[in-house]
Amino acid sequence: MPKFIINGGRTLSGKISVSGAKNSALKIIPAAILSKQPITLSNLPIIEDVERSFEVLVDLGAKISKNGQEVIIETASLNKSEMNPKLADKFRGSVMFIGPLLARFKEVKFPHPGGCVIGAGGRPIDLFLEGYQAFGAEIKEESGKFYNIKAEKLHPAHYFFPLVSVTATESMMMTATIIPGTTILQNCAMEPEIEALANYLNTQGAKITGAGTPTITIEGQEEIGAGKFAVIPDRIETGSFVILAAAANAEIEIENCNPEHIMTLLKILKKIGVNFSTGPDWIKMEKRQTPLLSHDIKTHEYPGFATDLQSPYVVLMTQATGTALIHETIYDRRLLWTDMLSQMGAQITMCDPHRVVVQGPTRLYGKRLMSPDLRAGIALVIAALIADGRTEIDNIYQIDRGYEKLEERLRALGADIERVE
Ligand code: EPU
Repeated sequence: MPKFIINGGRTLSGKISVSGAKNSALKIIPAAILSKQPITLSNLPIIEDVERSFEVLVDLGAKISKNGQEVIIETASLNKSEMNPKLADKFRGSVMFIGPLLARFKEVKFPHPGGCVIGAGGRPIDLFLEGYQAFGAEIKEESGKFYNIKAEKLHPAHYFFPLVSVTATESMMMTATIIPGTTILQNCAMEPEIEALANYLNTQGAKITGAGTPTITIEGQEEIGAGKFAVIPDRIETGSFVILAAAANAEIEIENCNPEHIMTLLKILKKIGVNFSTGPDWIKMEKRQTPLLSHDIKTHEYPGFATDLQSPYVVLMTQATGTALIHETIYDRRLLWTDMLSQMGAQITMCDPHRVVVQGPTRLYGKRLMSPDLRAGIALVIAALIADGRTEIDNIYQIDRGYEKLEERLRALGADIERVE
């Protein structure tokens, strides 16, 4: 299994470019199923989760032509709506195929999606199921492992999400796009990836208003077209690089990003003494002469503090003076990784599964570690880059799932990081 070997403490500087957003690409790719016309995607991140999405599509009968970060997807030849369990089990993003398949074929069979084990109960899909029922679909479930969803005819719905969910919002929005009539979704998630998906569908003939707010209205069409879409910059990658620069006290310019999408993080960084300036698509991180201050955070749905940035932020707090309470409100198991940071020398007290206290500043020391999931993985890389000595990070498939050619981009900043097969 490949691993990263990182010798920490190198001076980092220069420019780093942000890739297209994983969590936008993973929705736009299945959205291709909603139209029989070809879709051209650009600024696509070349990451493992995107490859897994292509495997699912090809298995369903789609044709894919790749040319670097530009890909053409044709789904006119799609000939089945049953997802291959071996493929769907590999990543949580497989859940995004259900809505479009149901809308197009009025039937979909799929296994419970796999992915990062960061929530209790194996990442539930109850909201999705309840949502499809609101469209008139019937659900047959085999002991929570395999599902068959079917409808004679789907009708528009007025649905209130009992819990805010990004993927459930996107899934219902996609299904409603080709169900004629007015669907109203309330208590929706507001992440920029949802707005991007609606913008794409609207340019192809869909009539969606309100995406990015809690209420989304979809005037469903018999059919929609397809065309070109440039994947928006990855806000989690942007935030991770910003935090890396702050933790390493490095002058780094982050390019091809949208600072608006990480405003909550940037506001906190200003307060704790991190210096930077921003433009429309860049962030310049500057060196600071004063110590970094600790600051509590509580993760929250967008535009609150992103749960996906919690782990890099914990690393940053090991370098700050004082005590920071980190309250993870979205997932049950997303703080367990901090045990590895403690092994590196961090002073972290776990209060309960949702809260840790970080006491800083502390020196971190290189260790042999294992990346438990994607976001913990990038946090360990950041920790290793600022630590004394050599760190080995195993199971980096988990990092490759979401970060394209990470070691090459970090080496260009001066990092001593190597991939060993
Ligand atoms: N939830 C349910 N039932 C459902 C769906 C979700 O109880 O049917 C719960 C989850 O267990 C969790 C909460 O609702 O406690 C929020 O989960 P949400 O559905 O919003 O998360 P998600 O849609 O599964 C997306 C991203 C995650 C990101 C979260 C929160 C994708 C593919 N995934 O997940 O990204 O952390 O929103 O912003 O878009 C990552 O990229 O590493 C990642 C985990």
